[in-house]
Amino acid sequence: MERKYNIVSIIRKKRESQSLSKEEIRFLIDSYTADEIPDYQISSFLMAAFLNGLNDEESAALTESMLHSGIIVDLSHIPGKKVDKHSTGGVGDKLSLILAPIVASAGVSVPMISGRGLGHTGGTLDKLESIPGFIVDVNLDRYKEILERQNLVLVGQTEEIAPADKRLYALRDVTATVESIPLIAGSIMSKKLAEGIDALVLDVKYGSGAFMKTPDEAQKLAEALVGIGEQFGKETIAFLTNMQQPLGYKIGNWLEVHECIDALKGDGPEDIMELSHLLSGAMIYLGGKAITIEEGIKISRQQVANGQAYQKWVDIVKEQGGDTNTIENPNKYPKAAYEFEIKAPADGYISKLDAFEIGMASVELGAGRKTKEEAIDPQAGIVLRKKVGDKISKGETILTAYTNKPTTIESASELLFGSVTISDHKPEKEKLVTHIVDSKGTRFFELNAVELR
Ligand code: URA
Repeated sequence: MERKYNIVSIIRKKRESQSLSKEEIRFLIDSYTADEIPDYQISSFLMAAFLNGLNDEESAALTESMLHSGIIVDLSHIPGKKVDKHSTGGVGDKLSLILAPIVASAGVSVPMISGRGLGHTGGTLDKLESIPGFIVDVNLDRYKEILERQNLVLVGQTEEIAPADKRLYALRDVTATVESIPLIAGSIMSKKLAEGIDALVLDVKYGSGAFMKTPDEAQKLAEALVGIGEQFGKETIAFLTNMQQPLGYKIGNWLEVHECIDALKGDGPEDIMELSHLLSGAMIYLGGKAITIEEGIKISRQQVANGQAYQKWVDIVKEQGGDTNTIENPNKYPKAAYEFEIKAPADGYISKLDAFEIGMASVELGAGRKTKEEAIDPQAGIVLRKKVGDKISKGETILTAYTNKPTTIESASELLFGSVTISDHKPEKEKLVTHIVDSKGTRFFELNAVELR
């Protein structure tokens, strides 16, 4: 590529909080995608953008450049609306694996392109790869073929789809540049807009285990994401959801898949089932198979109760090369070589299970990466025995941790012990979903107002 701009000048401009032009951003992203800028220069740009922010024009230019770093898939030959869901990332957040088969079984096409674990949060691809044989790297023809056959495809970004994001995502993970609204918005929306969808549901998380720590920050991110979606003509609904404690009881790749299998059989934890049905309901609504989100939720519940969602899960695992015996007999999956427990130091109620600390501990145990190249251990992770609000007696087990790396036990124990707070009084139950954001704006969302049972 012809060198039109000087990379060092671009970095310096952002370091000095000056605005970059659309052309400069395009040049930066194109050059990086073409391997013409080394990781250390783009890392430096990312840190400058992280610290000094990007204005609306720069954010739009970033998303657009990342989107056009690859192709935009055309799925118009497949009938019906294509709807995906994306989460901004959390701990124990395994919902994609539950809602994708639910929604596909309800007749809505779900072309789902997911990412790997990022920082302390888990990634759908790493979870899927804990199933022996499951292939997440497919080319575009195979992507379309799977979607046509199954109404569902669960893959990673191909080299053709938003390749700039694929590389930037991995780099941000190891350069402490994840928690930035424009960088997250560009990352999520570039790959979602490239995958050929008509509509999108977003789970925007706030709290300790999320990248956005407060509801206000999450609202800003949700509004940015919905704004980009609408700008590109895709109907987009976002929910603001609580990520103070992990979702469900299991954290770690295979452990989470196991919890998803239970959920798809209708036997998942309450928080997992509630959120899965809400997000599935919104997808079914956007896919045109329900006239309201409430009706979508009812359909979602039916699809789990009648076994069709679970059957769709088995079908997609088989289609993508996964071993269905593992899915049918999850208890036979080999356990990690080492396990240890964290026990309550006093009687009381669990008032906090810090999702960030627990996520960091799971990375330490081997369930996430500390460097771009590090391999994931599918067996590593944590099983909570208690959740916030539960009563506990001194000496009772709060959680069990699993690892194949005995050298991590001490540091992970410290993190895990520090993640738990026990108090005398039962804490007030926090809401799981607070707001809905769509083209009509941002409003409180009352989950109880929806007929859930
Ligand atoms: N999810 C993404 O796809 N990208 C981010 O930057 C953060 C969460």
